[in-house]
Amino acid sequence: MGKPNASAVWEKLKAERNGFETRTLSDLFLADKSRAENFAIKLDGLTLDYSRNHFTNETLSLLIGLAKDQKLPEWRSKMYGGEKINNSEDRAVLHTVLRTQKDDPVFVDGVDVVPLVRAAQRKMAAFVADVRGGEWLGATGEAITHVVNIGIGGSDLGPRLAVSALRNYADGPEVRFVANVDAAELVGVLKDLDPATTLFVVASKTFTTQETMLNAQAARRWLTSVLGDAAVARHFVAVSSNQDNVVNFGIASSNIFPMWDWVGGRYSLWSAVGLCIALSIGWNNFESMLSGAAAMDDHFISTPPNRNMPVLSALIGVWYRNFWGAHGRAVMPYDERLRDLPRYLQQLEMESNGKSVTRDGEAIEYQTAPITFGECGSVSQHSFHQWLHQGTDRIPSDFIGVIRDDWGLPEQHKALILNLKAQADALTYGYVDNKSPQLTNPGDRPCSILWLDGLDPYNFGLLLAFYEHRTFTQGVIWGINPFDQWGVQLGKKLAAKMEM
Ligand code: F6P
Repeated sequence: MGKPNASAVWEKLKAERNGFETRTLSDLFLADKSRAENFAIKLDGLTLDYSRNHFTNETLSLLIGLAKDQKLPEWRSKMYGGEKINNSEDRAVLHTVLRTQKDDPVFVDGVDVVPLVRAAQRKMAAFVADVRGGEWLGATGEAITHVVNIGIGGSDLGPRLAVSALRNYADGPEVRFVANVDAAELVGVLKDLDPATTLFVVASKTFTTQETMLNAQAARRWLTSVLGDAAVARHFVAVSSNQDNVVNFGIASSNIFPMWDWVGGRYSLWSAVGLCIALSIGWNNFESMLSGAAAMDDHFISTPPNRNMPVLSALIGVWYRNFWGAHGRAVMPYDERLRDLPRYLQQLEMESNGKSVTRDGEAIEYQTAPITFGECGSVSQHSFHQWLHQGTDRIPSDFIGVIRDDWGLPEQHKALILNLKAQADALTYGYVDNKSPQLTNPGDRPCSILWLDGLDPYNFGLLLAFYEHRTFTQGVIWGINPFDQWGVQLGKKLAAKMEM
């Protein structure tokens, strides 16, 4: 990946930006009555409305030219094909294989990884059926009623979001999460649980992460102090690529679900890291989530850029970041079930693209990932939306709305959706108060809306894979490696060396 600012199109985009000094979003909508329909793309149950951003067809073709100059199609094919595009760790990047519906081989170091994924999925499906069906019993012969997932970062945020998002499909054991090394979380989660009916899933790709190891050890003491050491075999399973460390911890190798170095932590909920999701919603629903993600994978690789959802969304993000100086982006899911989406996206986007050297180690002299932040609407309206509407910064927002009401309270659902639309309109068009500048909302502030027909496993898979590919596309544009996270290592090393 070269540097984008060396591309001739970069200068053209700067000039293009100047053209918007006198052209507002209202002007764009006035000039094209079909703008809302023209700039919306639907894939199955997910629609992206990107019409409320500052661009014309000319802007889009320049941005698409930038993606071409940065060789997006080539990098995308390399990723899907198993090339080691995570060059600083010498690893392939194959989360797409975790959800592929095809059995076409994909090789890493001469080994076809598809059969490995299928074997892991069979093991997961069997375990999930046993636990949910009451075949897998705790040490005292009782069925499992609660699952506690112990993990952090990618081994927590994705599964935590999925279990919450898909709560209407939850018909298995209750799943809880422990991530923080702050004992308040573990103690709070275990407070009302019975060791005899609790299953721990220790999810850690490396099985070295301090927080997860300390929490897992404390959880084991909590269990064995009541049920004895032998109970570990019935109450602890692990998801990891580090078999030796798991076995040293005391978990039998038969209780290990595999992970591979070609799956990045923040891209791992589709793997056995998603075991707790499958325990909650069942294997068929988990598979449906995978097939939603696979549909987005197909869309991403096969759709021309001017109709490609993740590509367009990524390019619009680059447009605001690099040509409008937007240092942040807001994400507001108007659905309580998606409350953890902003946190999940913070890791996905900021750990992936928060870099200041290119993949070849050259210093970067343009901006990369902005700050991602957000909160559930309509709650967010009563905290930071004031800043979005009238602050001195103009930053883009993503709204996420779910059209289907799953709660049988149509009045509230209607209010929720109307609030989303009202916020989008207020940002886009603003309001001029002739008497008072304080009462004026300048408007002309960009946003995109993602509509889900319903929040089901398939659509949820579409949504998350959309964001993954959006993030990857931006990494390609910025010429960086979105799949390493060396910045996190220093703090880990220093903490390990320090003494109290
Ligand atoms: O925060 C750094 C990180 O390496 C993340 O990328 C990862 O998701 C997290 O730690 C947890 O790592 P592990 O699954 O190896 O415990």
